[in-house]
Amino acid sequence: MNVESASNEFRRRYGRHPDVVAAAPGRVNLIGEHIDYNDGCVLPFAISQRIVAAASLDDSGQVHAFSAALDSDAAFSVDVNQPGKPSAWDNYVRGMVAGLRERGARIDGAQLWIGGDLPPGSGMSSSAALCVSTGLALANLANVDVSQRDMALMAQKSEHKFAGTPCGIMDQFASCFGRKDHTILLDCGRLAHEYVPFVPAGVAILAIPSGVRHDLAEGAYEKRVKSCKEALQAIAEDFPGTRSFRDVTIDMLSASRPRMSSETFKRARHVVTEFTRVTKAVGALRGNDLPTLGTLLWETHASLRDDYEVSCEEIEEMIRTLRRHDDVLGARMVGGGFGGIVLAMVADSAADDVIRTLESSYYLPRQIKDRPFVVKPSAGASVISTC
Ligand code: GLA
Repeated sequence: MNVESASNEFRRRYGRHPDVVAAAPGRVNLIGEHIDYNDGCVLPFAISQRIVAAASLDDSGQVHAFSAALDSDAAFSVDVNQPGKPSAWDNYVRGMVAGLRERGARIDGAQLWIGGDLPPGSGMSSSAALCVSTGLALANLANVDVSQRDMALMAQKSEHKFAGTPCGIMDQFASCFGRKDHTILLDCGRLAHEYVPFVPAGVAILAIPSGVRHDLAEGAYEKRVKSCKEALQAIAEDFPGTRSFRDVTIDMLSASRPRMSSETFKRARHVVTEFTRVTKAVGALRGNDLPTLGTLLWETHASLRDDYEVSCEEIEEMIRTLRRHDDVLGARMVGGGFGGIVLAMVADSAADDVIRTLESSYYLPRQIKDRPFVVKPSAGASVISTC
């Protein structure tokens, strides 16, 4: 979506031109799943699909927001400090308005049009992109300087406090810090990052929508976060001074196994083994060893399915299909789980064939309109026009 069409849509809605248009991308994550909230390192990259926010300020005392993807209007008072109805999309906007006002932004009223080509609930961090694009647009209008890092943290806080999801920082960070042709090696414990070039030769990265909408606020995510805390406490009983999973080895976890339920043990085993896989994946990426990276993707998937138990039948069916295809180097579910997308690393020459296979075995029988598409590391969020 370009600035002109966002501006036109805004005008159709509000009868005037917007004063600013900002855009924030979604993300996929190569590896490092469910460890951002455990102080782990993750390897996401921003994609070219984005949420676009067109905005103007006014002095109505109200924020009016319209989501084009959901065809839904929202209006709330600017001095909001509580979320609205549970699961309502506008909670993300509320959180950003509250966050900016906390930083001294003068927002006495606003009009927002929110669109773009990143479908909500698709598992590519549309909510983080919604927060960041809205935050950027409003910060620009209110003339407050918010660093990329603080914008990511503000968006995470909006998820925590206003949407009720105790998420990590990966999605918001990737949306803010994306860079063309690079993945982001983000150390979530230190909130430090470096870029790793990623222009895989002869290989396409496919984002494969399952068509199953996932909703992180529904509780399963929160349960996983709690289990990890429990496991860490149990390990700290045996190994005082253990403060985070960064300090935990697989041997320590095994030694503390009697202190936890078998479910909690499995959750922690995913976390500990995923830490190791990320380290290996970074080595593979730097050495341009795509077959090893592919093997690690399959392994992460197995761990998410068996130990973290965040997969679902539809995703498993796709993974089985991809496994049977010789030219798929690796694949795995991405993000919170229970739907969303599968990411597959596929030989360039076979990408069309893989898509056709999934079309006939998965999409057509289920009458799902989505189709797999190629994703490439892209730039992060920015103000694209002060109209
Ligand atoms: C969601 C959360 C992230 C992260 C992933 C799982 O996308 O928003 O913070 O925890 O799930 O890796």
